[in-house]
Parts: sequence; C-alpha cells; structure tokens
Amino acid sequence: MKTMKKVPHRSPNHILDHLEDVYVPVLNKQHQELHRCLLDFNDLVDYLSKKRPTPEEWKKIKETMDFLGNYAKEHFASEELLMRKHSFPKLAEHKKEHDDFVRKYGELYHYLFDHGDILCVVDAKFFLLHWFSHHVNHIDVEYREHFRQCGLLNDHC
Ligand SMILES: [Fe+2]
Ligand SMILES: [Fe+2]
Repeated sequence: MKTMKKVPHRSPNHILDHLEDVYVPVLNKQHQELHRCLLDFNDLVDYLSKKRPTPEEWKKIKETMDFLGNYAKEHFASEELLMRKHSFPKLAEHKKEHDDFVRKYGELYHYLFDHGDILCVVDAKFFLLHWFSHHVNHIDVEYREHFRQCGLLNDHC
C-alpha cells in the first residue's frame, strides 16, 4: 500500500507510524489535520500527566478536545457525503464506525470533565490514537478503490 506520510519521531509508540493515502486530497488534508491535533493532544497529556493540571491547563485540554471532536465530525461528514454521492456500498458500515466514535468520544468527554482525573486523559490519548490509526489505515482505505473506479481522481475532488 502506498504510504502518504512519514510521521515524525514524536509519534508515540509508533501507533501513528504512517497514514495511508486515500486518494482524495481534501480527505488526506483532513487526516493530516486530525493527525496534527492528536499529536498536540498527546504532547499536552504527556506534559500534564507529570503534574497536577491547573485550571488553565484543564481549559487547554477542553479546548483541544472540543476542536478535535468538532473537526472529526466535519471530516466524517465530508467522507459520508462523498460515499453517498458515489454510492459506496459499505457506506452504512463505515458510517456506523464514525457514529460509534462520536458516541465514545462524547462519553469520554463527559467522564473526563465530570471527574477531572488526568488518568482518564491518558486513556483518552491511547483510545484516540489507536482509533484514528486503525480507522484511516484499515477502514478509510476501503473507499479509495471505489472512488478511483468511479473516476473520482485526485484532481477532480
Ligand atoms: Fe477519514
Ligand atoms: Fe472514515
């Protein structure tokens, strides 16, 4: 499989060693932005796990998680729109993956800020990294051949 991007050495435990090229530039760009957000979140959690977060730092975590959650929803909507437009046969399954993520993210978000426990944030970090890596490299790649066969080439997206 073609590798789109080598991730710099700060990638934790090689969970995000690479992201597959999904052939659609706008979606590749969104994956890169999500990847950047996740690395920022990872750095923030690593820093905060060594100390008790101040109220200001909790605010930063919340801002980061709000941005990530909203951006992920926008990205899912973009993918689902293209899948619908081009009659991707596994749209329902794919959408369920997205919906499950949104639900889990919401649960995590509320648990995190209701309890204010930094260990929850560490769990969140690993959940997010694993989900994103697996989803892009194993689930999102399923639509790229379909889009290519539909004539949806990179230049036309
Ligand atoms: Fe995606
Ligand atoms: Fe997806």
